[in-house]
Amino acid sequence: MSDNPSELARFSEKVVALERDVRQMRARVIQLEKERTEYLQNVSHQLVAPLNAIKWHIENLTEGRLSVDRAKKVLRSVYSQATIAVHLAKNFNLMSNLEGEHALKALKEPLQEVQLFRLLVNLADDFQPLAWDQQIQIGVERQNFETTPPVLAMKPLISQVFSNIIENAVKYSKSNTEIVISGRRESNNTISVEIRNQGIPLAASQIASVFERGFRSEEAKRKYPAGTGFGLYIARRIVEIHEGTISAFNDPPWVVFKVNLSIKGLQGKTRFRA
Ligand SMILES: Nc1ncnc2c1ncn2[C@@H]1O[C@H](COP(=O)(O)OP(=O)(O)OP(=O)(O)O)[C@@H](O)[C@H]1O
Ligand SMILES: [Mg+2]
Repeated sequence: MSDNPSELARFSEKVVALERDVRQMRARVIQLEKERTEYLQNVSHQLVAPLNAIKWHIENLTEGRLSVDRAKKVLRSVYSQATIAVHLAKNFNLMSNLEGEHALKALKEPLQEVQLFRLLVNLADDFQPLAWDQQIQIGVERQNFETTPPVLAMKPLISQVFSNIIENAVKYSKSNTEIVISGRRESNNTISVEIRNQGIPLAASQIASVFERGFRSEEAKRKYPAGTGFGLYIARRIVEIHEGTISAFNDPPWVVFKVNLSIKGLQGKTRFRA
């Protein structure tokens, strides 16, 4: 090595620059590792929900307590939950861009026209057998909703948003209450859907926190110790990717979750399935 002072100075500058690059690369690796872990936790959260529902339905069926009519509905729900689980398992990449930087275009799923009324009627049917166990009735109001135009969305992802909200409504409702799903055209380009249930009221301080990753209220932990607090975070990320909004509020005695989605806002922004 040279003992020329200016060359030594250049050399130590290079070392400093290399050290900075290594630090940046290390930070990037840590960030990627965190995103990967969160992605796997998200996928696992969304897979566990339908699998648990299937397990629960099969327990009920094998106990033989159900009327033939109810047993048929339970079997339909098993089929549809299994379809959701298979779709998720086949399309792990569906959820990959929920974490970190994401662009709508990066998601593999094409946009399609989704009739939210039909989607929610089907989801209500899927969750009704779980709700029967606590004498909870799930209803979808037709008025104003049935005639709303379709929204452009990634159907399997939007379906997960509403599954997560309805699953919560079933879990956190008191027995002998109702879950009411309604929808309407909120403005020229917006459809809003509200899901209301009665159970654990949301304290003012919890209203923003419920969408944070890992948040669970003390009451929720007491009622269902096994939750992760990921469901509403996943719902919020999916809604944000769709450039919509999601919010929670109390309308005593109801707790309400509201989702606004754009009818045509995403047109031309990514692939489209006719
Ligand atoms: N319908 C509801 N009524 C009252 N509180 C709710 C309702 N839905 C969600 N919450 C509150 O928001 C928290 C976060 O919900 P989220 O779905 O993210 O997680 P979780 O249901 O606790 O866990 P997981 O989804 O893994 O089962 C809940 O723990 C609960 O405190
Ligand atoms: Mg949940």
